[in-house]
This record gives sequence, structure tokens and C-alpha cells, in this order.
Amino acid sequence: MPKVNLVDYAGREQAYVKHRLLAEYLPPLAYKVGSAWDSIVYVDAFSGPWKTNCADLADSSFAVAIDTLRNAQAGLREKGKNRRIDCILIEEDKKAFKQLQTFAASQIAPSFGCACSLWFRFRPSTSSLRRTHQIHSSLSFSILKVGRTFLCGR
Ligand SMILES: C[S@@+](CC[C@H](N)C(=O)[O-])C[C@H]1O[C@@H](n2cnc3c(N)ncnc32)[C@H](O)[C@@H]1O
Repeated sequence: MPKVNLVDYAGREQAYVKHRLLAEYLPPLAYKVGSAWDSIVYVDAFSGPWKTNCADLADSSFAVAIDTLRNAQAGLREKGKNRRIDCILIEEDKKAFKQLQTFAASQIAPSFGCACSLWFRFRPSTSSLRRTHQIHSSLSFSILKVGRTFLCGR
């Protein structure tokens, strides 16, 4: 599990809780989706970074999620399941988006894609996700809505 340290979250403790949830609940979800589907597409519609304290942005939700997904990808590979994972990070603030772009570019690896979109007023809906799909046209993914969660896979 990636290190999510409370000391990095002074004044935004709610983000600490969210990041702990990401680090603990994303692996089982990735294993389940990765066991049934050939690839996983992770979409973070409100990426930030926002009030981060770590120079490498390790205390941002996207860094926690990417680290967690990489570990899950390695775990799936050990089970003989080579799964591609793509992350799409969406942010409306131009300044935050520049940082996000730099970070995303540094994360790209074989079988691990990371792209970001400057998008004003993304809505967590299937139509917004379909638009995301059109923007990142190299990605062909289908969307399954389970309650308030969207599962995306190729
Ligand atoms: C509270 S911050 C969360 C940052 C990050 N997800 C985290 O947990 O560390 C919310 C971010 O979403 C962006 N945002 C808010 N509404 C948005 C929208 N409708 N579309 C795209 N970005 C949005 C804000 O600019 C801000 O950077």
C-alpha cells in the first residue's frame, strides 16, 4: 500500500481519509475488474493537485491512485493476467492542470497510460465519461455504472 501519512495533511484531514480509502479499496476493485476485463481505465474527474505538501505530489489523490493501481497491475501480472491500465485525470483549474500534466507525463510506462484533460465543469455522468472517451480517442472503453461508481474497461 502506498504511504499516506497524516503529517502531510494538516488542514485537509478529509483528504487523508479519502486517500486512505483509495489506497485500501482500489486494489480489490482493480483485482476484480482486472480478473474479468482485459484492461482498466481509471478516471479521476476532480484531480487537483489541491493544497499538497509534498514536492513530488505524493499526497495528491491521483498519485495515491496511480501508485495503488501500479501495485495492483504487478499483482495481476504475477497471476498471469497482463492488464493494461490507463488513467485519465481531469481538472478545471489551469494552474493545477499544468502541474497535473507534468506529473502525468512522468508516469507513462509500457502498459500504463496516463493522460489529462483541462475540462471546465466535468459532471460525474455517463455523458461526461463518453465525452472523455471522445477526447482520448485512442482509448476505446465501455462504461458500466454501478450505483455512483463507474467501471470502465476496454
Ligand atoms: C478538493 S480538490 C480535490 C483534489 C484531489 N482530488 C485530492 O483529493 O487531493 C477538487 C479539485 O477539483 C477541481 N474541480 C472542481 N470542480 C470541477 C469540475 N466540475 N470539473 C473539473 N474539475 C473540477 C478543482 O479545481 C480542484 O482542483
